Order: sequence, then C-alpha cells, then structure tokens
Amino acid sequence: MALTYFKRFRMEADLSQLPAVPPLPEGYFWVPWAEDLVALHADVHYQAFCQELDSALFPCFSDRYGCHLLLQEITSRPGFVPEATWLIACGEGCCGTVQSIVDGQGCGSIQNLGITPEHRRRGLGKALLLQALHGFKAVGLQRACLEVTADNEPALRLYQRLGFRKMKTLYKAVE
Ligand SMILES: CC(C)(COP(=O)(O)OP(=O)(O)OC[C@H]1O[C@@H](n2cnc3c(N)ncnc32)[C@H](O)[C@@H]1OP(=O)(O)O)[C@@H](O)C(=O)NCCC(=O)NCCS
Repeated sequence: MALTYFKRFRMEADLSQLPAVPPLPEGYFWVPWAEDLVALHADVHYQAFCQELDSALFPCFSDRYGCHLLLQEITSRPGFVPEATWLIACGEGCCGTVQSIVDGQGCGSIQNLGITPEHRRRGLGKALLLQALHGFKAVGLQRACLEVTADNEPALRLYQRLGFRKMKTLYKAVE
C-alpha cells in the first residue's frame, strides 16, 4: 500500500485587531445557523470541495452523503459555535459555508470554509471568514485557528491576508 504525505499548516490569528466584515456584493445575503440547515451546509460543502485538492485528503469531501455525515458530526459536537457558522446565499441558492467549533484550548477553530466555484473571486470567502471570526469574538474568544493544505494557495493567501500565521507544519498520510 503506497502512502502519500500531504503537507498542511496549522495557523492561528489574534482576534483583537479584526477588520470589519465587508458588505456582501449585491444579490448575496447572510444566512445564520439554524438546526434545520445541516443539509444545506452539507450540499454547499460538497459543491465547494468535491473538485478540490482537499477531497484527496478527506475522501468524504467528494461524496454528498459523506459531507452530510461530516456536517452532522461537526454541528452536534459540544464545542460547536453557532455564532461562527454561516451560509452565504443568492438568488440561485446557497454558495458559501463556514462551520466552527471551540477547541480544547479555547481557540475558535474554523472547520471548513468553502465557496462554490462559480461564485469565487468576488470577496465572498474573505467576508465569510471574517463573519465567522467576529462570531468567535462575540462569544468571548481571543484566538482563532485552522488547518490548511500547503498547496492550497488561494486559501493560504486569504488566511495570511487576514492575519493568520503558520504555527506548525503537519503531514497527513493518505493511501
Ligand atoms: C479559498 C476560497 C474559500 C476563497 O474564496 P473566494 O470567495 O474566491 O475568496 P475571495 O474572493 O474573498 O478572495 C480570493 C481572491 O479573489 C480576489 N477578489 C476578491 N474580489 C474580487 C473581485 N471583485 N474581482 C476579482 N477578484 C476578486 C481576491 O483579491 C483574492 O485574490 P488573490 O487571492 O488571488 O490575491 C475558495 O477558493 C474555495 O472555496 N476553495 C475550495 C475550498 C477550500 O479549499 N477551502 C479552504 C479550505 S482550508
């Protein structure tokens, strides 16, 4: 059995100097977390990740039902943070998702941030990440963290621009 090792970074940001959430482009709107939205988050997650590098690392990302199970698991964890879990929607339906938890060290942990391909490069990823980070602040958290695959340049650039710094390099083994 051959293993491939994917390099990933754990990144952290201080939430004290957070830029404001930019207004969404015309036609897009925010959908806050509600229990009956798991399926919608899962569907947007699937569309955002199924063709991407991360679906090689996390096989459930390229399977609709796998995404649904993942989203159910995240949103029912004791550390789930509804205030930092959002959808972005537009006339065609939902096109962005972010889900968040608080980890054992009291750090707000971004679980998955995804914008569906046809809605990218309009500032939605940045707005969605900032909306989640402000959600962490609203519940009293001071730091945020996330993991990103080293070759995921758009995500890495977005995180660095919003103040995330690399704290640790990790290697994920994939068959
Ligand atoms: C990473 C991701 C969330 C970024 O979403 P996005 O909505 O495209 O991000 P933004 O539009 O906020 O910013 C991305 C780029 O678009 C540019 N941009 C923003 N508004 C723009 C506009 N109106 N016109 C043109 N470009 C624009 C930004 O400057 C930025 O450019 P750069 O990174 O090339 O310098 C998205 O690519 C994605 O969902 N990827 C797949 C899932 C994934 O890998 N998620 C991260 C897991 S860790």
